[in-house]
Amino acid sequence: MIFDGKVAVVTGGAAGIGMECCFKLSQKGITVIALDNNEEGAKAVAEKIISMGGNAEGLRLDVANVNEVRKIVELLVLKYSRIDYLINSAGITQMIGIDEISENDWDRVMDIDLKGTFFMSQAVLEIMKKNKFGRIVNIGSVAGEVGGIVVGANYSAAKAGVICLTKSIAKHGAPYGVNVNTVSPGYIDTKMTKDLNQDVSQVPLGRKGTAEEVSDSVVFLCSDMANYLTGVNLDINGGLYMK
Ligand SMILES: NC(=O)c1ccc[n+]([C@@H]2O[C@H](COP(=O)([O-])OP(=O)(O)OC[C@H]3O[C@@H](n4cnc5c(N)ncnc54)[C@H](O)[C@@H]3O)[C@@H](O)[C@H]2O)c1
Repeated sequence: MIFDGKVAVVTGGAAGIGMECCFKLSQKGITVIALDNNEEGAKAVAEKIISMGGNAEGLRLDVANVNEVRKIVELLVLKYSRIDYLINSAGITQMIGIDEISENDWDRVMDIDLKGTFFMSQAVLEIMKKNKFGRIVNIGSVAGEVGGIVVGANYSAAKAGVICLTKSIAKHGAPYGVNVNTVSPGYIDTKMTKDLNQDVSQVPLGRKGTAEEVSDSVVFLCSDMANYLTGVNLDINGGLYMK
């Protein structure tokens, strides 16, 4: 598997699943750019990678801001001339009932989780298509497959959108060597879920997953072992939901 000299961009790279993706990808010899609206966190991840002998950069980005997205991708393309991997992990959730969701709540979750994923992909696709190679991995959710009850309907709808958006982009990217897949985690132990009472009694494997376990699947989808996979939704949920 030849990862050396390649460049990965990871949104939400300052924490949780995105951060683990940054570490795992850099361990393969890939230059990693961690993007996050938590600038300090993104820079700290990059510094840690550099201290371990890798190449990395941490930059601030609000994925909900389309102008910022386009500008940062333009800058990165100028600097590196390539983006081989894009991991769209930036996301927020809301533990909110149907009756409580305001227009602002709806828009905020859609803007970050769905719009952010689309416009990051759109911007990065240009260089991937030019270079005739790319792997995009979007982070969905089991809530986008079965409908969340604890998490808001806005979050479930955004993640269902991510899963289908992935298929559309996969069809578009295929002739250019760009494979696009989703990883849909179940209950994963991260900052996002620290206040959430996740009842693991429904999980056949009997425990929450780790961000590291999710990032293993992301790296797999970036690897040559997944060359014939595109448009798939890979469930990482301990058996919580079986298609
Ligand atoms: N933890 C779970 O159980 C779980 C389950 C299913 C799906 N997911 C999904 O996995 C992804 C990562 O979640 P996590 O659990 O690692 O959460 P996390 O809160 O640990 O990390 C999310 C990261 O995204 C960043 N972020 C938030 N809004 C942003 C914005 N507007 N622009 C740029 N960065 C932004 C945060 O600063 C944070 O660093 C999310 O898309 C989430 O919906 C998580």
